[in-house]
Amino acid sequence: MRKNYFIVSAMSIAGALIMMSSSSGRPDDRTGAPSSNGNCSICHSGGAQGTNVNIGVTEKGGAITPVTSYKPGKTYTIAIAVLGTSTAKGFQSTVLDATNKKTGTTANPTSGAKVISANGRDIVVQSSPSLTGIWSYEWTAPANPTGDVTVYTAGVAANGNGSDNGDQGAVKTSVLTLDASSGTTGSSIVTLSAFPNPCNDVLQLSKAVDQINITGINGATYPVEFSGMKINIRGLAQGFYYIKWSKGSETGTIKFQKI
Ligand code: HEC
Repeated sequence: MRKNYFIVSAMSIAGALIMMSSSSGRPDDRTGAPSSNGNCSICHSGGAQGTNVNIGVTEKGGAITPVTSYKPGKTYTIAIAVLGTSTAKGFQSTVLDATNKKTGTTANPTSGAKVISANGRDIVVQSSPSLTGIWSYEWTAPANPTGDVTVYTAGVAANGNGSDNGDQGAVKTSVLTLDASSGTTGSSIVTLSAFPNPCNDVLQLSKAVDQINITGINGATYPVEFSGMKINIRGLAQGFYYIKWSKGSETGTIKFQKI
């Protein structure tokens, strides 16, 4: 009888430890993204493994050159590398839109990783500690995207002592801008164009909109003077930018070049 009690309680303690453990992947959102439960470093700390996280995005079946933008409906391979002098690495990664919500479809993680659903998000996470710290997964962009997306990734290079002590975590984010060359986005009744394009002083919109936002291909936002149909871009440095516009419930993105 005594022995049975012992076995049962030993099993439930082991079960509880497995539930809480994160060597087989944290069950909660620790991606470090806005409104997550923070990142891995909350627990994994005290070490100096030189932890660093890299994110590389390529078009599935396309060129091996990394992309910094995405097209509606296309599938991308997102490669994650957690670097550091460690034998037990792990990560969490998720793709979110500008409102920090899940966007597109996340699937096909490489072996040693799995997709979980937590905090309303699809999160890719290691299924066992990895020696190499290299994984990838596929992300398919929504057919009607609303704008740029961000890949949030948190990683840990652990010392393999079976605890969270003496480890080091790191985070990395990578913005993929919406490639508007594939047309106006959203369920658009309003079709909008901007001219002249390229332009060096005032961009004229084909129709008045309520709001615009100018962002660079690096994701940064640039303040400009705007009056319904005219955008003063004299203050912008030369290069490519996006106009994100909204009119009522309509939204869209137009790419232009400042010369
Ligand atoms: C709430 C605390 C906590 C958070 C947050 C946390 N972990 Fe852990 N993690 C632990 C504990 C405790 C262990 C040791 C027990 C175990 O193996 O589960 C551990 C173990 C690990 C191991 C195995 C380490 C080894 O020494 O073998 C890896 C890899 C790991 N975690 C990755 C992560 C990653 C990646 C994140 C962030 C996405 C993360 N953990 C977030 C508490 C945490």
